Amino acid sequence: MIEITLEVNGETRRLSVESRRLLADVLRQEFNLSGVHIGCAHGACGCCTVHLDGKPRLSCLTFAAQCDGKSVRTVESVGGVGADHPLQKAFRSEHGLQCGYCTPGFIMTLIPFVEEMTAERRMPDEEEIREAMSGNICRCTGYQGIVEAVRKVIGENLEEGAQA
Ligand code: FES
Ligand code: FES
Repeated sequence: MIEITLEVNGETRRLSVESRRLLADVLRQEFNLSGVHIGCAHGACGCCTVHLDGKPRLSCLTFAAQCDGKSVRTVESVGGVGADHPLQKAFRSEHGLQCGYCTPGFIMTLIPFVEEMTAERRMPDEEEIREAMSGNICRCTGYQGIVEAVRKVIGENLEEGAQA
């Protein structure tokens, strides 16, 4: 067993983990974060994406022991009841989800992309958006609604910046 310290959605905890234990399992079982979805469990679907020190990371391919001293954010830290993140709102309005199983992973993958484009003050073309989410699989939507959701939020952010 290995002693690690994890900061998860603002809560710091010390815990003891087996060296082979996956971050996805620790988040779901020790922190009750069921928004970390497991689809393929081998790095192909993106459902389990979380942020590790601010960067998207597949938690099914990450050992918890590798995360000692690091900060983890899951979809539970994004928005809240009645206070969805703009990207979550756009997924709803643009029909970017159906069953929703893939959605936490897409949201965690795309938030840094939206922030990057907003900081660069530019609207990416469709190819760039599809490339940004190419590690995430959705079996329901056909992806177009997700592309539209990303465009909508970046468009709103650019408009807001232009007015400021
Ligand atoms: S469950 Fe991690 S990539 Fe599919
Ligand atoms: S909404 Fe069902 S898998 Fe994406």
